Amino acid sequence: MHTSDTETLDEQMAIEQRLVDSVVASFDSTTDPRLKELMQSLARHLHAFIREVRLSEGEWSNAIAFLTAVGNVTDDRRQEFILLSDVLGVSMQTIAVGNPAYKDATESTVFGPFFVEDAPEVAVGGDIAGGATGQPCWIEGTVTDTMGNPVPGARIEVWQADEGGFYDVQYSDGRIAGRAHLFADAHGRYRFWGMTPVPYPIPSDGPVGKMLAATNRSPMRVAHLHFMVTADGQRTLVTHIFVAGDPQLERGDSVFGVKDSLIKDFVEQPPGTPTPDGSDVGDRTWSRCKFDIVLAPEQI
Ligand SMILES: [Fe+2]
Repeated sequence: MHTSDTETLDEQMAIEQRLVDSVVASFDSTTDPRLKELMQSLARHLHAFIREVRLSEGEWSNAIAFLTAVGNVTDDRRQEFILLSDVLGVSMQTIAVGNPAYKDATESTVFGPFFVEDAPEVAVGGDIAGGATGQPCWIEGTVTDTMGNPVPGARIEVWQADEGGFYDVQYSDGRIAGRAHLFADAHGRYRFWGMTPVPYPIPSDGPVGKMLAATNRSPMRVAHLHFMVTADGQRTLVTHIFVAGDPQLERGDSVFGVKDSLIKDFVEQPPGTPTPDGSDVGDRTWSRCKFDIVLAPEQI
């Protein structure tokens, strides 16, 4: 490289760095120190990305169009931004940062885009299927703190896809199915009927699906059932249980949500096996799964 080329390159780098410095400095008088930290760090990292890949104006236009499409497809029943965050591993990284391992507390995983507020309550031992189809599955366990004390009254939200891989919010008729909340009993125990989880693709008909296709990535998620557990004085737990033996475990989870401690046995029961609560599931197989939940304290 000639000296003049080096000088030109140096001047180019200086121009770019001056811009970064100006943008960072523009946030200097932000009163909220945390907001200041977030904005200045965001500016540094965004500019570092642009400079590293030498982003073209056309590529940035495409990115804006992509984000616009993500926004346009998002409404109160579909959350494409959460999906985008999930497939980029941003959700899992944020969870990792915010929920450091504590003793034997149950590990967290992604919230996902399919949680709905105000799901119906079922009694302990009730059925969350609400008409959603699938192999019946009996799920039971305890909710304790990290000292081993039961957490009576813990609120347990559960939601899952049906055997076709669809959540109720993806149905066209607006009905609620495959989701509910219940409260742990006086001994911290819980149990309910759901469906044996099956692998399903994340919604791939929108901009996030197009991005996965363009990058040769699978939209499939490992079979799972969602939990969110809340109790006074305890850290809110957002997690799933995954089905041991699901072939999708080998292929990988499209949102990076699997943790070994969350892989559980869903043991299939032959037709005619008596059910734990005596309910009649007809002449068909069913499964059962045990999941003991340990909540970390809110203040560590
Ligand atoms: Fe899910």
